[in-house]
Amino acid sequence: MVKFGNVLRRMPFLTQPSLFIRAWDRHRSITMKCMLAHLSRWATPTLSRASHSGMRSSSTVASYAKREERPLSPEEVFSREERYGAHNYHPLPVALQRGEGIYVWDVEGRRYFDFLSAYSAVNQGHCHPKIVAALTEQASRLTLTSRAFYNDVLGEYEEFITSLFGYSKVLPMNTGVEGGETACKLARKWAYSVKGVPQNQAKIIFAEGNFWGRTLAAISSSTDPSSYEGFGPFMPGFELVPYNHIPALEKAFQDPNVAAFMVEPIQGEAGVVVPDSGYLRKVRELCTKHKVLFIADEVQTGLARTGRRLAVDHEEVRPDILVLGKALSGGLYPVSAVLCDDEVMLTIKPGEHGSTYGGNPLACRVGIAAIQVMEEEKLAENAARMGKILRVELNKLPKEIVTEVRGKGLLNAIVIKETKDYNAWRVCLRLRDNGLLAKPTHGHIIRLAPPLIIKEDEIRECAEIMQRTILSF
Ligand SMILES: Cc1ncc(COP(=O)(O)O)c(C=O)c1O
Repeated sequence: MVKFGNVLRRMPFLTQPSLFIRAWDRHRSITMKCMLAHLSRWATPTLSRASHSGMRSSSTVASYAKREERPLSPEEVFSREERYGAHNYHPLPVALQRGEGIYVWDVEGRRYFDFLSAYSAVNQGHCHPKIVAALTEQASRLTLTSRAFYNDVLGEYEEFITSLFGYSKVLPMNTGVEGGETACKLARKWAYSVKGVPQNQAKIIFAEGNFWGRTLAAISSSTDPSSYEGFGPFMPGFELVPYNHIPALEKAFQDPNVAAFMVEPIQGEAGVVVPDSGYLRKVRELCTKHKVLFIADEVQTGLARTGRRLAVDHEEVRPDILVLGKALSGGLYPVSAVLCDDEVMLTIKPGEHGSTYGGNPLACRVGIAAIQVMEEEKLAENAARMGKILRVELNKLPKEIVTEVRGKGLLNAIVIKETKDYNAWRVCLRLRDNGLLAKPTHGHIIRLAPPLIIKEDEIRECAEIMQRTILSF
């Protein structure tokens, strides 16, 4: 049996604030990761005893219900995740409990500005009432039928999203990476059945620095060792060119077996890398010239984040395949979509692709509401205006500390010059202490992506917090 009381006895500082503060002070100089590893060392003996108990399930359920009666401290939240969950993330030490609009609150009631928006999934703000209402109303009516049957919401959603984005068809999926995977499958099918590429010879080109998720296909195109190392063998038929480099792309397109080029209009996970103006237009021209499909991965940049409905709208180009995700549900539910015209979409026949949850009525209702909020509340216009203010304010910081401020709309990043007592992680810890949550990417870059409903006085207050924090070291 898992005895939580035993864990607390072995870690008295979890229940006694003064002891915890002392323990915390002692460990201040080591990272949170080290501290959690330290905690789990104490917890392990109780855990291993538990795995030999034959009475495990019923008593665990009873003790679980009892434990949930009292609120957990942040440290208990951290140590429980560390102990029972896979160690595939390195979260900032803050234990969140509630969200509303641009704010989140931790388990002790402290309020923070959310400057990550769940990696741009919460563009509409946390728990947007219109999206919550759509979800709860549909949740009590019909949630999942699978695609074995028709449901009365899917067609409405399909009509709505295709007419808004100007494509003839949509294929609904759940996560962003499934959207990318679907786009790649469509490109391969189209290459064999329309372009005339010999079977199993199709190639898809990606840009170095790309990120489109964590499945084996997605990491097969990755240039980041922390994504792919130790997970081979990899997907064949994927090739790389440098991002924002038209001559390299043109060279790659000389191969007649190239089916598609999949690219983020701004590379999000790479650290908000904005290509030169005109890049996407040239990509479009080259794709048309060489009969290669242009796949725009707008999972992070799409849905008003960069100050336009789509990031490709800045250059007025239309991709052949558009991949959306994240904010397509406003953060309530995994909803992704792949949009394209019949020539591509109808190459996939019944039984050749799908997902149990893709296109379920709950997701469709949430998707409609999330898009309506984006349009009705003019989130793109607001993102464009607020983004400009944010970049002007952040550019006032000394260049020897913040070497670069970049981005479009409300997808921005600052590049921090690392010193021995100064790096992006430490800046984020101090931002948290000052009431603003952001996350480093690649060590020296901090992404700044608040919900798109943020107002001018709020963005100015946040810029002031960032300025004060960065100058406080
Ligand atoms: C551009 C891009 N594509 C795809 C994905 C994958 O989305 P998901 O995590 O929902 O699978 C991400 C996630 O960050 C992304 O940034």
